[in-house]
Amino acid sequence: MMNDTLMRISGLHKKFGDLHVLKGVDLEVKKGDRIAIIGGSGSGKSTMLRCLNFMEIPTLGKIEIDGELIGKEYPNARSEEERIRYSESSLCAVRKKVGMVFQQFNLFPHMTVLENVMEGLIQVKGQSKDQARETSLKQLKKVGLLEKQDVYPSRLSGGQQQRVAIARALAMEPEILLFDEPTSSLDPELVGEVLNVINELADEGRTMLLVTHELGFAYHFANKVIFFADGVLHEVGTPEEVLKHPQKERTQDFIQRFTAFHF
Ligand SMILES: Nc1ncnc2c1ncn2[C@@H]1O[C@H](COP(=O)(O)OP(=O)(O)O)[C@@H](O)[C@H]1O
Ligand SMILES: [Mg+2]
Repeated sequence: MMNDTLMRISGLHKKFGDLHVLKGVDLEVKKGDRIAIIGGSGSGKSTMLRCLNFMEIPTLGKIEIDGELIGKEYPNARSEEERIRYSESSLCAVRKKVGMVFQQFNLFPHMTVLENVMEGLIQVKGQSKDQARETSLKQLKKVGLLEKQDVYPSRLSGGQQQRVAIARALAMEPEILLFDEPTSSLDPELVGEVLNVINELADEGRTMLLVTHELGFAYHFANKVIFFADGVLHEVGTPEEVLKHPQKERTQDFIQRFTAFHF
């Protein structure tokens, strides 16, 4: 039987103390899926992405990648919340498979562009400097920033910094790429160059989850759109279904607010 499921998320919950942010997320990510996640501020979109690469440890629920459960299950655990335990080594393995690009780029300010891209390859993947340099230059070329390799991030525009961050994530050869509002902190005229790079990745058939407020981009980019609200996937469907013909009132209200003005 052909099985092209890359990641399966079942019953995912996340609590911060009394704050119950994710309330049972179920999602199957197939190879080549481009999933756009939209939703109000504070609804838990970032928390969900962060759970998927285990920057946050899920409170409850399972995440499987390539058919393998992340963490070790203890069926006789005292409580549901202790049922799955995560070792540092298993989390390291996940983070190699699941790359992330952040709203605030998160580049190292004291390293050049090239050093930023090389760092993970050396530290996490154990590549030699020469190997890491070769891989990094290839990725910098891909995002159109080869000529900036020796520059420090502070000398770059926001759009360029974000493209470096994308090159850095790509260099690790992740199976899934997560983007958390990658254009939200950019000046409007710089948004396009970053979306173009993301679009090229889509053309390559990469598997991506993208949290964004760029609904127009989401419409063209995604094969699946999720409207996230109250810690659950409130409405899921094709871009046509969710963005153009939302069935649920909350989704309709949300999308309406983005399309209040036409010209
Ligand atoms: N590390 C944390 N500790 C406590 N609360 C958090 C933490 N991270 C996020 N939250 C809270 O979880 C909720 C969802 O946040 P977030 O996932 O960032 O939402 P979104 O990305 O949709 O704007 C918010 O109320 C936020 O304050
Ligand atoms: Mg967020």
